Parts: sequence; structure tokens; C-alpha cells
Amino acid sequence: MIDVELIRRQFPILDRKVYGKRLIYLDNTATSQTPVRVVDCVSKMYTHHHANVHRGVHCMSVEATDMLEATRRRVADFINADDAACVVFTRGTTESLNLVASSYCQLLEAGDEIILTVTEHHSNIVPWQLAAGRMGLKIKVVPIREDGTLDLDVYRSLFTERTRVVSFTHVSNVLGTVNPVREMTDIAHSHGCVAVVDGAQAVPHYKVDVQALGADFYVFSAHKMYGPTGVGVLYGRRGLLEKMPPYQGGGEMIGHVSFEKTTFAELPYKFEAGTPDYTAIPALSEALDFIKSVGLDAIEAHEQELYDVAVARLQTEIPGFRMFGNAPQKCPMISFLIGNAHHYDTGMLLDRLGIAVRTGHHCAQPLMEALGVEGTVRASFAVYNTLEEVDAFVNDVKRVAEMLG
Ligand code: ALA
Repeated sequence: MIDVELIRRQFPILDRKVYGKRLIYLDNTATSQTPVRVVDCVSKMYTHHHANVHRGVHCMSVEATDMLEATRRRVADFINADDAACVVFTRGTTESLNLVASSYCQLLEAGDEIILTVTEHHSNIVPWQLAAGRMGLKIKVVPIREDGTLDLDVYRSLFTERTRVVSFTHVSNVLGTVNPVREMTDIAHSHGCVAVVDGAQAVPHYKVDVQALGADFYVFSAHKMYGPTGVGVLYGRRGLLEKMPPYQGGGEMIGHVSFEKTTFAELPYKFEAGTPDYTAIPALSEALDFIKSVGLDAIEAHEQELYDVAVARLQTEIPGFRMFGNAPQKCPMISFLIGNAHHYDTGMLLDRLGIAVRTGHHCAQPLMEALGVEGTVRASFAVYNTLEEVDAFVNDVKRVAEMLG
């Protein structure tokens, strides 16, 4: 059992009002709120350790560098990476995926194939399309079944002797489906392919062990896990990262530069051109400390309870309630529509009642097409949400349904 009130005290934003109503923040899948310790850390970086990293001999630069590198080790530990040098800092999941797609695909040949799934966020589709366009690669897509799980029979059937990469999300940002990552990476490996896993929606909720998952690459963002904005992580297996060409050129990623020939730095710096966000990255350590202080098992159990209570009430009390995604293993998010009401109208009315949800296609237009809808309303839970908020949310959805009905 967790003490939600104690947790909420660490998130002062949750006390604010919108339109004079208490805020109920249910847009955690888009971004989670940040505890004071994370905000304080960013502030401390500016007020005490504001110096560029890896470049100075002076005290403040050494301090900032130490804090950034300590965070890299913390992240490696958090996801059970065997080697902190295989943890690359980026600006977010999107940049991590662009890095892998852009760089790894340069090792492929025209006619090689990549497998994605229809549930992917645009950030796990478009970078591959861009690379495919440049390199003459072919993209194949795994469909979903009725309940929002991936059709693994089709997945198995898509492999050919030209398949080189599979890239799929650990948890769908719309359906909440938790994919069977290990089974999927095993299948990919049995065909000699590398497996890229988008963990953005998994890391705030579940213990992630990149080795146990068999992920060759695993990517996520700090801002969805109570951390600062503008920080992403790319974990990659050393042998693969070493083979890959740099993604961007600039300072810090080089060994030696001359106009005749430039050599590149060791991992992870080969992939970290330019000044990293050294004021935000150390704050990710604070977010990891926060998660550890509550415990991922406790977080998962609490969020599951919120989800179960919300779904049971919504499904029985709201005529015309339609939920998208009903997988046996599901993350605490609810994508829904009410009757024929437009998702935007529902979201706007909920906002006026103080409830923050996301509406629209959730950066997953191919999935919307597969579901036969233009968009949905999505409510997603985090550790600081309460059963009282769930009650208020359901009551307000009921009011909105009556207004729009
Ligand atoms: N990927 C984020 C979401 O699903 C922005 O809302």
C-alpha cells in the first residue's frame, strides 16, 4: 500500500485549480508531473553547477560532469544494462528512435526489410520511413486482434531472409497493451534480426530489464517518468553501437578532427554531439530516486486499482461507452468514446470540469485507421492519482455523456 497523500505533497502542481475547479490530471501518458526534488535539482544545476560538461578543468565543470555521468550509471542500473557506456543521452524517445533508424539503417542494403506494428507512435514509424526512403528498404506491419493485442501469427509470418530489424513498442500509448517483448525479441533473433523496443510508456509503470527482455535497443524519455523534459535515453548493445556510424557530427563526439580525416570518440560520446542538457540530465537521477522511494511494484498495484475501478464504473454506468484496448496485460490508460460524441467535445467539456485528458489521434494515425475512428479520448493514470479522483472523473464523464447525448 502506498501513502498517496504523502506522494501528492511532493507534487505541488496537483493543488492548482483550473477554471476554479480542482485539477484532476489524467494525461500522464503524454507527460507526467515532476516532484519537487526534480525541479529543485534543475534549479540547483543553474544556481550551483552551471558549467559545460566534459570540457573544463575547473571545479564547476568537473562537478557537472560527475553528476551527468553518475546519472548515466543510475540509468544503466535502472534498466539493468550491463554497461553504462551503452546508455546514450538524447532529447527524448523520438530522437533516440531517429538515431537508431538513421544510423543502423546505413548498415543495411536496398531490399532489406523492417517489421513495425500498426500500434506504433509516429516516432516509431516516420524515422524508419525516412531511412527506408534513403536506403531502398521495405517496411512490413504487424496488425492487431480485436482486443488490441498484436497478431503474433502474422508477426511470425512476416519474416523473410531479407528481414533485418523489428521495432515495436513495449506498451501501446493508445490501447495500453503490454506486448510480449521477450517472445517477440526471441522470434526476431531466431531470424538474425535486431530488436528495437520503444519503452516510453513502460518505464514509468514496470520494472524493465533490457537483458531479460532481449532488447538490442531500448528507448525512453525522462518526462514521462516524473523526470525533466528534454532528456531521452537510448540503450544499445555495445557490439551494435560500435558498428553504427555517428548520427550527428560536432563537438565531443570526435577522437581527432582534421580536414583529411576525422575519427570518432568512444561510446557513448560518439552519439552525443554537442552540449548535452547537463542541467536536466542530473534531475533524471532524482526522478529515479523518487520511483525507487515508492517502488515499482507498489506503483503498478496502485495504478491497476485505479484502472480497474474506473473501467468497471465507466462500462456499467455510461450508456454508449466504448473502450479501445482490452488486452489481458494492460497499462493503466483508458482510450474511449461515448456514443457518437466527438472526442474533442468530450475532452473540452472534461477540461472545463477540471479534468485533463488527451484527445485526438495520439500520434498514432495508422492505429486510428485500424480502429476505424478519427480519434479517442484518453485518460491515463500515475502514482499520484487517487480513488477520489477516479470517482470524480467517472461522475464527470457521466455528466458530459448526458450533455452530449
Ligand atoms: N507520446 C505522447 C502521448 O501519447 C505524447 O501522448
